Amino acid sequence: MMFSRYLVGLSIVGLAAAIAAYNRECGPTLEDTAKTTDAEFYFDVTEDVDLFVRCAETVYECDTKLYNARWFMIDSTKEPVPVGCRKQLGHLTTSHNYTGPLEVPGLTELYGLGIRGTYEGTYEDNGLLLPTNVTSIDLPDLVNIANTMTINNAASITSLNLPKLRHINKLLLNFTGGPAINLTFPSLVDVSSIAIYGEIDTLDFPALNETRNTIMVNSTGNLDCDTFSKSLVNTTRYDQSGVSCASRRGNVTLTHVEPPKPTVTSGAFKIPGGSLALTALLAYILAL
Ligand SMILES: *[C@@H]1O[C@H](CO)[C@@H](O)[C@H](O)[C@H]1NC(C)=O
Ligand SMILES: *[C@@H]1O[C@H](CO)[C@@H](O)[C@H](O)[C@H]1NC(C)=O
Ligand SMILES: *[C@@H]1O[C@H](CO)[C@@H](O)[C@H](O)[C@H]1NC(C)=O
Ligand SMILES: *[C@@H]1O[C@H](CO)[C@@H](O)[C@H](O)[C@H]1NC(C)=O
Ligand SMILES: *[C@@H]1O[C@H](CO)[C@@H](O)[C@H](O)[C@H]1NC(C)=O
Ligand SMILES: *[C@@H]1O[C@H](CO)[C@@H](O)[C@H](O)[C@H]1NC(C)=O
Ligand SMILES: *[C@@H]1O[C@H](CO)[C@@H](O)[C@H](O)[C@H]1NC(C)=O
Ligand SMILES: *[C@@H]1O[C@H](CO)[C@@H](O)[C@H](O)[C@H]1NC(C)=O
Repeated sequence: MMFSRYLVGLSIVGLAAAIAAYNRECGPTLEDTAKTTDAEFYFDVTEDVDLFVRCAETVYECDTKLYNARWFMIDSTKEPVPVGCRKQLGHLTTSHNYTGPLEVPGLTELYGLGIRGTYEGTYEDNGLLLPTNVTSIDLPDLVNIANTMTINNAASITSLNLPKLRHINKLLLNFTGGPAINLTFPSLVDVSSIAIYGEIDTLDFPALNETRNTIMVNSTGNLDCDTFSKSLVNTTRYDQSGVSCASRRGNVTLTHVEPPKPTVTSGAFKIPGGSLALTALLAYILAL
């Protein structure tokens, strides 16, 4: 017994030695997010993209009881992720004055993506909304957004490229006031809710097989709501959910209908003179 416990202890020491300690290049305040400065939190045009991606991809939080420290750098493409460690998912939130294209190759996972306008002054002052000045979004390797993807007050955006994105929790896109845009999410498999506004001409979710709440699209463009709604209504999962789509070509609302569930006992009992049918059924079962 003593011997095996010694071995376990030894192997943990071995693992701990194999993973790289957190080197603070990804910010000094991981321990206390309340202390995060704007410069650390917001993605600026002057951002070092390689550093951002390296941090988003390699910072792991590990069990302090096993490793005597909380933060480590682990490149899961080159080394196994040890037990008790999980990736620290980051945010990509553009700063209020970010202007131009947003291109972040190599980024595969985020907790949240936020690109939105800001209010000049405060809400109490009825502050003037300053739309975002991001012009295009290209995240060619992004696969997972654990929480919310929000692009709002984004009249300046002309294209959105997310070819590998498979999962989002909540999706809000608002291109109101911007140019006509065609949207496709070629790899998106599951999403909790979808709300999309803008001059959308085509909208495509070819891989989608599960949404949990109503899909809402309000387009000032030529989107074919009829085809769109029919193609997605049966991906929604709950009663009362469905697809609500409005565009220049007409409005369509379809509600999810739960397919009839096969009930085990019905048949034989509901037949008039049921006892006969039941007897026959029992005889059949006994014969098996
Ligand atoms: C966006 O660009 C416009 C025009 O250059 C500028 O007036 C505005 O302040 C910018 N918005 C923000 C939030 O910086
Ligand atoms: C954006 O605004 C921040 C202050 O919020 C400022 O420090 C930074 O220099 C600005 N960046 C640009 C490109 O204007
Ligand atoms: C969409 O964007 C427009 C323009 O920025 C804004 O007025 C509107 O409130 C936004 N809608 C939603 C649902 O956020
Ligand atoms: C969107 O797709 C339609 C149909 O394929 C095409 O006619 C239109 O030019 C496209 N619009 C944009 C902004 O790419
Ligand atoms: C959706 O598709 C994925 C990948 O093909 C599959 O793993 C998953 O089970 C599917 N979910 C449903 C609800 O069909
Ligand atoms: C859809 O957009 C139009 C015009 O922007 C607006 O009047 C309407 O209230 C919106 N509908 C929903 C359901 O948001
Ligand atoms: C579609 O709905 C919008 C509000 O979302 C409304 O303004 C418009 O008149 C409706 N169009 C049709 C054809 O029913
Ligand atoms: C969706 O499923 C329901 C019940 O399972 C079925 O009656 C209906 O035809 C389907 N709708 C479409 C557009 O495939």
